[in-house]
Amino acid sequence: MTTILAIDQGTSSTKAVVHDEEEGVVAVADEPVRPAYLDGGRVEQDPEELLRSVLEAGRRAVASAGRAIDAVTLANQGETVLAWDPATGRPLTRALVWQDSRASVVCDELAEHRDKVAHRTGLVLDPYFSAPKMAWIRRVWTGEGVVSTIDSWLLHRLTGEFVTDAATAGRSLLTDIDTAAWDPEMLELFGLGGERLPRMADCDEIVGTTTAFGAEVPVGGLVVDQQAALLAQGCLQPGEAKCTYGTGAFLLANTGGAPVRSAAGLTASVAWRVRGRTTYCLDGQVYTAASAVRWLQELGFVDSAADLDRVAAEDCAEVLCVPAFAGLAAPWWRAEATASLTGMTLATRPGHVVLAVLQGIAAQVCGLSDLVEEGLGSGSRRLRVDGGLTRSRALLQAQADLLQAPVEVYPFPHATALGAAAFARLALDPARELADVLPAWRPQTVLEPRWSADRAAEFLARWRATAEAVLAVGA
Ligand code: G3P
Repeated sequence: MTTILAIDQGTSSTKAVVHDEEEGVVAVADEPVRPAYLDGGRVEQDPEELLRSVLEAGRRAVASAGRAIDAVTLANQGETVLAWDPATGRPLTRALVWQDSRASVVCDELAEHRDKVAHRTGLVLDPYFSAPKMAWIRRVWTGEGVVSTIDSWLLHRLTGEFVTDAATAGRSLLTDIDTAAWDPEMLELFGLGGERLPRMADCDEIVGTTTAFGAEVPVGGLVVDQQAALLAQGCLQPGEAKCTYGTGAFLLANTGGAPVRSAAGLTASVAWRVRGRTTYCLDGQVYTAASAVRWLQELGFVDSAADLDRVAAEDCAEVLCVPAFAGLAAPWWRAEATASLTGMTLATRPGHVVLAVLQGIAAQVCGLSDLVEEGLGSGSRRLRVDGGLTRSRALLQAQADLLQAPVEVYPFPHATALGAAAFARLALDPARELADVLPAWRPQTVLEPRWSADRAAEFLARWRATAEAVLAVGA
């Protein structure tokens, strides 16, 4: 029976969970981090702030657990990148967050290679992914040093190793999806051919040791955050899907041992590589979920995310929101898209806008769910959900109403960390398999649809028409 310190380094906060196999979660510590939302679609973070949050959250969780830990694992944001000095560990640039769209210029220049990139990597040529941002950094930072995803830097500071994992690397546009290995042609294409690359570990590997949280312990079970939540939600069979509502909302469906390339604009990725076998997933992204709520907060419409359900109106009174505050991903892939609010009158109140934003997030997730069903040729007609925003009943009810399917809420607010802890257990004990390391759980709540199918279809048709109109104006 093992005790794991699982750290989920996310866009808006770092969560550290000490998880004991018998007792469950024994301690949790949370450290907020503040991405800087700048003009021109730039979104940056201070790497040292991220590292500090990892150390502080981890140390506080271990202190409050009051027991020894057997291993540390880290789940990461995925596509956030920076340049750093491998000799000193010092960051050389700020971190460019996955929401940052300044590398659109790199994608535009490579537009003629769009189809090849999609086929080779399973992804879409979009600044969301790591490689365009790495290429952009290389243009402005011409000095020595490496350019990598944020996990490699954090792990270097914790263990001294230069490493990433197969799932995080699979979000870079620099790997061949079929072999899940670095792809020299993609590296050349992005002008990163001469780059020193981290070793790509499996998700069930011990990659080093750390004394950052007390006595020296192994570090392993590395994975990107969305895939960690997919595992925590027990999506082990092809077709099983979850949606995590964090800074963004991310719908992932397990597709088994082979990638399913989407003709409809979803992306195919490595879900995890364990016991030498790669499992794949199909995924779709809503770039702003909690970030859209933060915008509501900054405008004074709500005091905090916890306030959403108090303020949200019962009905949106014709107000519609396309929450493209940081562009749109699948199926549109329009990094330059901006958010819109339509249907307002002098009678519109903050509650209508709040509900419209929540419905806008839910409508996007519905669109992704339909595409996943199409891509897999089947659908489970239930959605497993997790993440901080699942505390909003108004959001989840909108999701059930629009999806016309039950929404099952994960019982703990730390799915990502619990998934990462499961990978760490695989890393510690080669005799165990995925199904043996998952903590048992049942949905905390199941929300059933209250809307009729006709009402949901009418709303979604109106919402899609608004989104298409907004995109047409911006084109
Ligand atoms: O791809 C980015 C995503 O994984 C970030 O997750 O939890 O910060 O919204 P989160």
